[in-house]
Amino acid sequence: MTTARLEVRPPRESDRARFVELFRDEDFMVFSPRILTESEAEARFDHMLAVCGTIPFGKQPVVELSSGLIVGYTGVDRIDLAGETWLEWGYRLVPEVRGLGYATEAGRALLSRARRTYPGALLAIIAPDNLSSQRVCRKLGFAFWKQAPVEGDLRNLYTLCAEDPVS
Ligand SMILES: CC(C)(COP(=O)(O)OP(=O)(O)OC[C@H]1O[C@@H](n2cnc3c(N)ncnc32)[C@H](O)[C@@H]1OP(=O)(O)O)[C@@H](O)C(=O)NCCC(=O)NCCS
Repeated sequence: MTTARLEVRPPRESDRARFVELFRDEDFMVFSPRILTESEAEARFDHMLAVCGTIPFGKQPVVELSSGLIVGYTGVDRIDLAGETWLEWGYRLVPEVRGLGYATEAGRALLSRARRTYPGALLAIIAPDNLSSQRVCRKLGFAFWKQAPVEGDLRNLYTLCAEDPVS
């Protein structure tokens, strides 16, 4: 699908090198526990392909139309939290294109697709000091749920139900 400035589309094998590079980059991976090793990055891309094979709104490339470059990803992955499996919404952009509203633009487009097929709740997990991510999450319609430890770190959890309006 395309928006005014972006294409959001399923990952392809030819995207592998770009994502392996990004998953190994400190700036791209800010607010994640650590950068990945080469083999972890390869496995992460394999996982991205696999999730998108079964979920049409799995984490997928965000391509900037003006440059033709993959500038990040948006979408869901499965996560187990306190004994329950959730679809967790996430997004990540290269530093050069942060501050342009791309995460919201891409997220809104993919969320509208998600809502056509998925009636359940979505979860977002965000570090309390990651203010721009929480701002994007709220703009996508998520509401604050609670603070809770996730893999040992305190996180702000947000949820979005299918019937919630997108602001
Ligand atoms: C989080 C991220 C995806 C946001 O996407 P983006 O398209 O760059 O979003 P924007 O820069 O437009 O910022 C969104 C909002 O946060 C606000 N914001 C940015 N930095 C802020 C800060 N330090 N304090 C408060 N608000 C801030 C912006 O003003 C904007 O508000 P607005 O919509 O009212 O104008 C992007 O910054 C990113 O990739 N960060 C690194 C990876 C990451 O943190 N991913 C999320 C993990 S949970």
